[in-house]
Amino acid sequence: MFGGSPDHEEVRLSASDSELTVIAIDGPAGSGKSTVARRLAQALDLEYLDTGAMYRSVTHAALSRHLDPADHDAMARLAREVSIEIEADGTVVVDGIDATNAIRGSEVSQAVSVVAANPDVRAELVARQREWTRKRGGGVLEGRDIGTVVFPHANLKVYLTASTEARAARRARDENTADESKVADALTRRDQLDSQRRADPLRQADDAVLLDTTDLSIDEVVAALLGALRA
Ligand code: DC
Repeated sequence: MFGGSPDHEEVRLSASDSELTVIAIDGPAGSGKSTVARRLAQALDLEYLDTGAMYRSVTHAALSRHLDPADHDAMARLAREVSIEIEADGTVVVDGIDATNAIRGSEVSQAVSVVAANPDVRAELVARQREWTRKRGGGVLEGRDIGTVVFPHANLKVYLTASTEARAARRARDENTADESKVADALTRRDQLDSQRRADPLRQADDAVLLDTTDLSIDEVVAALLGALRA
């Protein structure tokens, strides 16, 4: 459960963080992060955290309360106050109500990049992500800034990518949509916002393992990453 963190200024890593086992998986939408992160977590007996679900949860809470996602101060306050529970089976509970499907809806998908560009929202969610990880002794975290900002000293940093066509086809399948070109447009727009924002943009960490998953199966990606971890 992610309650409001008592002191979100406290974002520096403590010395004990060197004891954590952290796998950081970053990349654009549809690059295969979630599936790969879940499988890696299973193989390594670690827990898995989808940090995108946290940005989506804040956005969902904003829309439910009729707040403007572009209102910087309102979003910063909301991020500190909102209760977000992400359960092991993927269920997401926002302020006590199951929002698992709602956070994946098009309304949230369209507004989430604006909320994720807010540096105060990011500071709060990054603090919660670090707290989640410390409590568990480590974890497999997926997002956009895990290897660059949240855990720059992760045991393994991975940057997954894939062609726009492959990513759009995967998203269209997930969303049960036939119109791949519409999905591709939305995806490209979100990638642009995520990689061009000033606060913690999507980018590959210098020491991340780069994998293009366009023509790889999940098994091949997982095997390659387990190999990289053991190398
Ligand atoms: O992975 P996703 O599509 O569910 O992510 C939703 C949005 O949140 C996306 O626009 C990028 C943003 N995000 C982020 O800025 N930082 C993260 N660590 C995870 C997601």
